[in-house]
Amino acid sequence: MMKPIRDQYERPLRDIRISVTDQCNFRCSYCMPAEVFGKDYAFLPEEECLTFEEIYQVVSAAAELGAEKVRITGGEPLLRKNLSELIEKLATIKGIRDIALTTNAVLLTKYARDLKAAGLQRVNVSLDAIEDDVFKKMNGRSVGVRPVLRGIDAAREAGLGVKINMVVKKGVNDGQILPMATYFKDEGLTLRFIEFMDVGSTNGWNFDSVVTKKEIIQMLDTEFDVYPVEEMYYGEVASRYQYSGTKTEVGVISSVSESFCSTCTRARVSAEGRLFTCLFATEGYDLKSLLRNSASYEEAREAIASIWRRRTNRYSDERTEETAKQRGKIEMSYIGG
Ligand code: GTP
Ligand code: 5AD
Ligand code: SF4
Ligand code: SF4
Repeated sequence: MMKPIRDQYERPLRDIRISVTDQCNFRCSYCMPAEVFGKDYAFLPEEECLTFEEIYQVVSAAAELGAEKVRITGGEPLLRKNLSELIEKLATIKGIRDIALTTNAVLLTKYARDLKAAGLQRVNVSLDAIEDDVFKKMNGRSVGVRPVLRGIDAAREAGLGVKINMVVKKGVNDGQILPMATYFKDEGLTLRFIEFMDVGSTNGWNFDSVVTKKEIIQMLDTEFDVYPVEEMYYGEVASRYQYSGTKTEVGVISSVSESFCSTCTRARVSAEGRLFTCLFATEGYDLKSLLRNSASYEEAREAIASIWRRRTNRYSDERTEETAKQRGKIEMSYIGG
């Protein structure tokens, strides 16, 4: 085992997130607004995406450098063909102890069992409302809540761990905070509220559209008795709480009001194979060209190591109205969550 690498602020590389496609069957307003991602939008053709073998190499290299977690993202990762084959390969990598997937869940009825059998451990499901009207508006494709709930059931039946992610936009779905909490408390599933972020430059973000962690907790307090619990692992992004008298948790991801860059251990690789050291980066390092131009595996690993060692990103710690307006930031659908 090599010595785990650290960046300029001593943050280790623990978590590698791989996007397998930039396409999605939803058009969530905070991520892929339908006006921008229309019929003519040029998504990446599959030949331009990293192959499963290339992803395997990147994750193996990251694991040698200290990564323990891998998360598969998109767009919607279940739109990538034969995804279970990738999971099966990743499950063989020494050092990787957690394999997770971020999904909108509608295709889980079809794939949950195969994914579990291949070695997937858990899924984080994006669901922004429990009422059809609100959810249909937010996902931009008029999809009701039912197909998502069916996907969640399929994942549970298959034995996958499940957490729910809800992005909160002021005036759009903040009225769903308590109904969502009530629903998932009864289901015994962890729900995490996520502060709406200024990722990319197409989602019309401003500070006024953020419901802060403090406001969310105040709202929860009106209805439930919740108390904070210890972080589960170094660099966990969610502040976690438990409903008293239950084992069920609820969390808030406060990337805007209380950023967590000082413990950020996440590297991200876009579907076309660019390595990004921050969600808000404007440029990524082209690993695909490196891998396709006959660089050895060791060279690719050293490139990742050297980029991480030079890393100084802490965008959310330094965010201002001005930086939020910056053009050229990568889109969430391109880099995954
Ligand atoms: P677990 O492994 O289940 O703890 O998942 P996670 O919370 O690390 O991952 P997930 O992808 O579910 O994260 C949920 C959301 O938190 C993302 O979609 C982002 O909105 C936000 N988030 C996650 N990582 C970061 C990060 O590094 N920076 C910022 N600013 N936001 C992040
Ligand atoms: N702000 C916060 N989270 C976002 N996501 C996508 N766009 C945003 C944004 N603007 C996250 C959500 C979703 C996942 C796929 O990406 O958590 O569940
Ligand atoms: Fe698709 Fe997820 Fe983005 Fe919604 S948040 S458009 S489901 S990738
Ligand atoms: Fe990490 Fe960048 Fe998010 Fe800060 S803003 S936590 S450095 S990804």
